[in-house]
Amino acid sequence: MIITLIGYMGSGKSLIASQLSKEINLPIIDTDFEISKRNNRSIGQIFETKGELYFRRQEKEILEEILATHENLILSVGGGTPCYYNNMELLNSSTHTVFLQASVSTLTRNLLLNKNKRPLISRISDEELPEFIAKHLFERNIFYTQAQTTIITDGKTPEEITLEIKEKIFR
Ligand code: S3P
Repeated sequence: MIITLIGYMGSGKSLIASQLSKEINLPIIDTDFEISKRNNRSIGQIFETKGELYFRRQEKEILEEILATHENLILSVGGGTPCYYNNMELLNSSTHTVFLQASVSTLTRNLLLNKNKRPLISRISDEELPEFIAKHLFERNIFYTQAQTTIITDGKTPEEITLEIKEKIFR
């Protein structure tokens, strides 16, 4: 089984992936990490030198490769992955998709801690960040809400979130 964690930047996909991986004993693949490795550059550098369109194509290509070559996995994708090409459809048809749904205030709190690594928000001022997230999330929710399972993460610990995922998937 492949479990794909989706959600906005700062929703805790990587953290929950590693927690879940330990508990159900499945390996993790993180698409951002794979893209970065393949290009020998950070995600920020890729956006800067090659542009977002190149990044989105890489994202698509790597996603297709991973899905064609793995059967048991926890897949952590970038916040934008479900929103481009037909990625959400592809993920829903070949994996179990889990949307980590967090409020704008939770996302803002998490993202203020490390905005710099994320090219889409690195130039937005701290004051303007909540409004940006609210608008961006509104656009992306059309995709995120197509997930097979949704977990509301606000105020929950990684342990609680992981337990809820296991309960919903393996019930
Ligand atoms: C992006 C999210 C990032 C990364 C890139 C673009 C997005 O991943 O893929 O900066 O479009 O939301 P995280 O969700 O892990 O921050």
